[in-house]
Amino acid sequence: MIKIGLLGLGTVGSGVYKIMENNYENIKNKVGTALEIKKILVNDIDKQRELQVDRSLITSNYREILEDPEINLVVELIGGEEPAHKYIIEALKNKKSVVTANKLVIAKHGNEILSLAREKEVQISYEGSVAGGIPIIRPLKESLAANRIDEIYGILNGTTNYILTRMAGEKLEFNKVLQEAIKQGYAESDPTSDISGLDAAYKISILASLAFETFIDVNRVYVEGIENISLRDIELAEELGYVIKLLAIGKKENDGLDIRVHPSFIPRKHPLALIDDVYNAVYIHGDAVGDVMSTGRGAGQMPTGSAVVADIIQVARDIHNKRLTPNLLESFQNYKLKNIEEVENCFYLRIQVKDKPGVMSRVTKILGDNRVSLASVLQKHRLTPVVPLILITHPVKEKYINQSLEELRQLDDVITINNIIRVEESS
Ligand code: HSE
Repeated sequence: MIKIGLLGLGTVGSGVYKIMENNYENIKNKVGTALEIKKILVNDIDKQRELQVDRSLITSNYREILEDPEINLVVELIGGEEPAHKYIIEALKNKKSVVTANKLVIAKHGNEILSLAREKEVQISYEGSVAGGIPIIRPLKESLAANRIDEIYGILNGTTNYILTRMAGEKLEFNKVLQEAIKQGYAESDPTSDISGLDAAYKISILASLAFETFIDVNRVYVEGIENISLRDIELAEELGYVIKLLAIGKKENDGLDIRVHPSFIPRKHPLALIDDVYNAVYIHGDAVGDVMSTGRGAGQMPTGSAVVADIIQVARDIHNKRLTPNLLESFQNYKLKNIEEVENCFYLRIQVKDKPGVMSRVTKILGDNRVSLASVLQKHRLTPVVPLILITHPVKEKYINQSLEELRQLDDVITINNIIRVEESS
């Protein structure tokens, strides 16, 4: 019998409890011994819960779990940075293995946590921290271990994918969809971390750390959200053969690692272009396997519960068999993270210029002088005296685009720079 302490009985915690109860026999057979949830930490013992849990299991004192010598597996599902981080550290120090779905804690404190687990010779597993129910952490560590991975592209945030899908499908503006999504419960009441790209940045930091075997400092990842994407951009993307997705990107290049999150044009025929609504997907290129993509539900009680219980089974099996699966720290190396200014991309530029002779040549001269070469130019719906101009560039370093924009803003002919969006052509 392996005794488990559960920290948190919110959405995912309740899902884990239900799965473990419903599949008790099946899980017991898979582990080789029974699993018992001995204690559950909650904030408010008297809170009315949809889930019926024996009152004697519930505590509001974390010490009853972290200091109980009978509990050798702690499952952290509180979320947020503190006190979750503190509890994980304390559990590991007390030689308890830990399963968590906490992307924030793993992205920010992964180095400390993995090192401590190794020192204490216990397990740390975090499949549920990225892309909910999609198996991706263990595949990166095990099933794809033969490969040198050089590219990861992810749609790692369901909220933003849902918003972009509805904007495109129903021809709605960002704010309208966002407000409706909050009202219907598809988006959090404070969706800042989703919309701004930060949630996806935590997740790509975790995936890229495993894929490229190094620690990625999430604070150094370039992040841009979807708040400036307008319906007009989505319509133009469609017209040009693309869709707009919030992409989380990790690339290993000769001059360093390129890790970033931002909206991107992706070709309509790319497999990631088909991932709609709240679905997540991860697309990986390895030298042996080639391209692989996994997709599924990136959040929610049962999908994330599925990933967490899989971790519990794996770790419990190791505890039962007195085995220690290495946590990969041994192979971690230091790589330079590329500055976004040095990253090369194609760009979509939507600007409004005055409708008069010579404007186009002055705009293209600024671009040309800054090494920006154009792949296509579209002049749309003349609304004298203003002309919308849509430019797609060839690959160019961000610093040259930024210099061009600086100069274009000074140009009397340019009325507005509406938007600049990267165009992903390489994958
Ligand atoms: N808020 C996240 C999303 C799910 O919208 O994908 C939790 O990581």
